[in-house]
Amino acid sequence: MLRLSRTGVYLRAQGLARSLPEKPLSTLLPATERLTARMACGGGDEQRFRDPASNPRVVQLREIMKSDAKDGWNKSWEEGVTPWDLGQTTPVVLQLVQSGSLPKGRILVPGCGSGYDVVAMASAERFVVGLEIASSAIKKAKERCSSLPNANQFTFVEADFFTWQPKEKFDLIFDYTFFCAIDPSLRSAWAERIRELLKPDGELITLIYLISDQKEGPPYNNTVDDYEKVLNPVGFSCVAIEDNEIAVERRKGSEKIGRWKQHVTKSFL
Ligand SMILES: C[S@@+](CC[C@H](N)C(=O)[O-])C[C@H]1O[C@@H](n2cnc3c(N)ncnc32)[C@H](O)[C@@H]1O
Repeated sequence: MLRLSRTGVYLRAQGLARSLPEKPLSTLLPATERLTARMACGGGDEQRFRDPASNPRVVQLREIMKSDAKDGWNKSWEEGVTPWDLGQTTPVVLQLVQSGSLPKGRILVPGCGSGYDVVAMASAERFVVGLEIASSAIKKAKERCSSLPNANQFTFVEADFFTWQPKEKFDLIFDYTFFCAIDPSLRSAWAERIRELLKPDGELITLIYLISDQKEGPPYNNTVDDYEKVLNPVGFSCVAIEDNEIAVERRKGSEKIGRWKQHVTKSFL
């Protein structure tokens, strides 16, 4: 059962929860950086539209996806119809990096888009793979990022998350607006892929954009329960759920950071 800790973090598994930061993530940044993060929260071109369906660019995206299910994402990137794109690192990703609570090792960002979060997480301790189905997104990300000082600590791969076969598994998968972008009929397959791609002790972090009143997508309706419904059957439990206090303006109050781990199966032999 979920319970609320004094830090505002919902803890599920006592043992795992102990390894999480004692303070809410938002307090881990120095005051000046918290302010900068808040100011940066206005990013993205649909900040005036809290309801995605009222944003003309989301309507345009949905039209593109309906007209070309196979290549729709690539078309949206080619035509610059990317209303989700913040044009900067997601503030809470910076916070996770700076708080020291992000696992080290091999990191996967499925549906990485422009790649800002990929670059922000990449360091000598973390090799980050940004995965994208859209060739034009990959091209843009590579053009923007390939000469950055940490360029040998990340890579962009053009492939379909549902069929891609990497040589090595990952210590962390970070999902932000990928789960809500894919058709809900693919959610069980998404969870199965998370299980296949993560090392047994790896962690899944979902930055969950909660939406509930959309008649269509993307983005499709999603709740924390929707993640649990598909992750629990493949062996994952939620170890912490925290409000994202520095979500971008239009998503404020609508985002949660979920941390998930595989259940430990005890052998009685
Ligand atoms: C809503 S966008 C989110 C992008 C990024 N995570 C962000 O927050 O800015 C979803 C992204 O997933 C990509 N995508 C959709 N289906 C995919 C698939 N099957 N495999 C890999 N990427 C996919 C799209 O091209 C798109 O860039």
